[in-house]
Amino acid sequence: MEEAGAVGDLFAADATDNLPLPAGGGQTLAVPRAFVLLAESIICHSDPARFDLLYRLLWRLQQERNLLAIPSDADVARAYGLEKSVRRDSHKMKAFVRFKEIDGVSGQGGRRRFLAWFEPDYHIVARTAPFFQRRFTDMDWIVATPKGSAAWNGDALTVSDDPAENPMLDDATDALWRTYFSNIFNPARLKVKAMQAEMPKKYWKNLPEAALIPGLIAGAEASVAAMAARAASQPPLFHERLQSAAASVVSNEPEAAPGTLDAVREEARSCTRCPLHCRATQTVFGEGPDNAGVMFVGEQPGDQEDLAGRPFVGPAGKVFGGMLAEVGLDRSTAYVTNAVKHFKYEPRGKRRIHQKPNIGEVQHCKWWLKLELDLVRPKLVVALGATALTALTDASQRFSNLRGTAQSFGPDQTLLVTVHPSYLLRIPDADRKQAETARFRADLELAAAIASGFAQTTTSPVGSRFMAS
Ligand code: URA
Repeated sequence: MEEAGAVGDLFAADATDNLPLPAGGGQTLAVPRAFVLLAESIICHSDPARFDLLYRLLWRLQQERNLLAIPSDADVARAYGLEKSVRRDSHKMKAFVRFKEIDGVSGQGGRRRFLAWFEPDYHIVARTAPFFQRRFTDMDWIVATPKGSAAWNGDALTVSDDPAENPMLDDATDALWRTYFSNIFNPARLKVKAMQAEMPKKYWKNLPEAALIPGLIAGAEASVAAMAARAASQPPLFHERLQSAAASVVSNEPEAAPGTLDAVREEARSCTRCPLHCRATQTVFGEGPDNAGVMFVGEQPGDQEDLAGRPFVGPAGKVFGGMLAEVGLDRSTAYVTNAVKHFKYEPRGKRRIHQKPNIGEVQHCKWWLKLELDLVRPKLVVALGATALTALTDASQRFSNLRGTAQSFGPDQTLLVTVHPSYLLRIPDADRKQAETARFRADLELAAAIASGFAQTTTSPVGSRFMAS
């Protein structure tokens, strides 16, 4: 890679001739797999300091095994920054490569042949080429770039570091791209800044459809006005139902709180305290013995909980249940509930994508959580994640300050704060996931110890419950 030369070529003949070689029998260095993956990505960057950085991290990792899990460390932050730029460049290459057919030439067995020109910022051709091999396996292609090229002929993928020149091809599919782009362009959803962030101008010159963009942006306002003039005059089918549901939202608390958990659960079935009930299948109330010693509070039911009517039965529930079993806590003896009792989601095709409840929804739903706490009176309350903590205390309590602590909460009551199990499901890096899973286990071990009377509240009161209700 040319930048290595810019800082002096360590392996050039005259340089190595004069340098004493290190003595043999050197030490074997062990590193986490995450470092190897990070290094593979970072060496593709063009920052001349990248090798120094990797070398420093390599040595530091020998003493500081969890170094990569410390995002505030300057070396770690820089490393992840470089990795992100490389990943983004690779992503842009996947999105913006446009193949052009080479007329009159056919590859092995009459296969069609294509050529594409792309200008990456970094040395990403080799790491991105397998994507094109998988995607366009039935055609012969070359992706040429100033930082090397990749070619596929149906049998072998060949990658070269030699800089290529722009072949300046034109092709009939350019017109197709333009037709496609102008048809999917929705002027009513135009956000110029977001569009330019997604498709930065530096890529435009190699994208056939980019020539249309200025005109489409300029005409967007007039197109939206024309669309509005053509809009249907009938309200959408769900209009009336949504209007009446929203109008029936109860803003005052029910007159009398029923006296038993079963009665409260029954009443919660028809809860309309906030608009979330309109789209959810049902209320997912807490479950467990009404004299449970431990109460776990999650965020809100997910897709599977909404369908089953029970908390924590989906993927996060499996992580949660598995960990409870590992630390010797029997889920059937605990009371398990959520800060918000209806599933909040956004429909996307056939899927329902989880959406975090907002502060207003959490405040409305506190009514039920407070009743559950007053009726069950658990010795230990475990907040699973920041939403649960907000619902149980008030919005000013910082989750990161309280995580892993057990504090006095109500009379003879302890609050323990830990992460939500779904957080563990979202960690992509294997080493970090392992470390965070171990922390979660340690928190639940503390919960088990408190529940069985072997450990006590460790710090000062967290504040009175429901301060902000
Ligand atoms: N996440 C939660 O917070 N609660 C559930 O019941 C399921 C997933």
